[in-house]
Amino acid sequence: MMKLSKKIIDIEPSSTVILGQKARELISSGKEVIQLGEGEPDFNTPDHIIEASYKAMKRGETKYTNVAGTQELRNEIKKYLKNEHQLIYQEDQIVVGNGGKQLIFNALLASIDPEDEVIIPTPYWVSYPQIVNFAGGKSILANCTESNDFKISPKLLEKLINKKTLWLILNSPGNPTGSVYSKQELHDLAIVLRNHTNVNIICDDIYSKIIYGNEKFFTLAEVAPDLIDRILIINGLSKAYAMTGWRIGYAAGNLSLIKAMIKLQGQSTTNASSVSQAAALAALTGDMKFLDDWNEKYRQRRDLTFNILKKSFPDFNIKPMGAFYHFINCEYYLGKNFKNKKIHNDMDFCKYLLEYFGISVVPGTAFGCNGYFRLCYAKSETDLQIACKKINQFVSLIK
Ligand SMILES: Cc1ncc(COP(=O)(O)O)c(C=O)c1O
Repeated sequence: MMKLSKKIIDIEPSSTVILGQKARELISSGKEVIQLGEGEPDFNTPDHIIEASYKAMKRGETKYTNVAGTQELRNEIKKYLKNEHQLIYQEDQIVVGNGGKQLIFNALLASIDPEDEVIIPTPYWVSYPQIVNFAGGKSILANCTESNDFKISPKLLEKLINKKTLWLILNSPGNPTGSVYSKQELHDLAIVLRNHTNVNIICDDIYSKIIYGNEKFFTLAEVAPDLIDRILIINGLSKAYAMTGWRIGYAAGNLSLIKAMIKLQGQSTTNASSVSQAAALAALTGDMKFLDDWNEKYRQRRDLTFNILKKSFPDFNIKPMGAFYHFINCEYYLGKNFKNKKIHNDMDFCKYLLEYFGISVVPGTAFGCNGYFRLCYAKSETDLQIACKKINQFVSLIK
């Protein structure tokens, strides 16, 4: 048998990716499945972005670029951060990579030494603890309660920080909860962070453009500019622009960290695809009106699914203010039976829902929070309506 490293054995595969694969297998075996598991918009990438990438290929932009990304794209990201968030970065403080995921991976690998701790508010995005683990660090899970809208409080943060704390990861709007940190909440967290200069902060802003109603997105660096050198901003094109397959993300932050991340990227994947970079440039410079239309659609879909599912889940109370997920409390059904089979936990709940009703969602356990499941509502209204009815039908059979 081929020897594998302890490092790779110790990390778990991405549960959302596995569930997506399982759903695709069922589809190819002829079963009808509505996929509300994976977090990606059903919209296609807008035409002007596709056209720009095609033109770039025709112009010969099919070669290696700078490892950190083309000058044009980094310059546009720089402008975007200034215009949207009043943040001043130099181009060499910005790196473009193969999705936000690679940049988080590179940042943690480039900074963590054994024993370093990373505070991760829970429920968390599935990859954070696994990447920390792979990098040799220790995840410190901060259990955030639904009563606090699943956000970390300054008190809990203060309690978890010690001399070994290297990073705090903030994700707003959050996956899987859709929670958004207000300006005041960020301000209050900054008060704690100011007292602990060893703590750096990853702000995973990947859903920053997907936000509803009067809620406004703030990133920590604009609320606490004095902390900017300890903050790494992660963002990308995947979610907002429906460009998950193009694999473009970016990071902005402390120059020495960004240089280290570029060094690592230069020895692994080199630049993100030149064609995708051209597409990203078009996305950031082109007409963005469609973002408002899409947000309005997401909002309608959020309300539609909330209203149907609320009838079946007595403890489903939070309407997310951003991103495109519901994080639904299903504890009421755990320990009960479906077709004489006991539903022991949220994983059983999701398994039966997929096997018997063809609906794929992700158990809360994957996000470090038992008794919940995550449902992505960035799907067509028709599919959402059918899926919610089936979920209600499923739970009506649980005794
Ligand atoms: C919270 C969060 N961060 C980062 C990512 C990475 O996205 P990408 O690598 O497609 O940019 C995702 C994608 O699911 C996410 O949900």
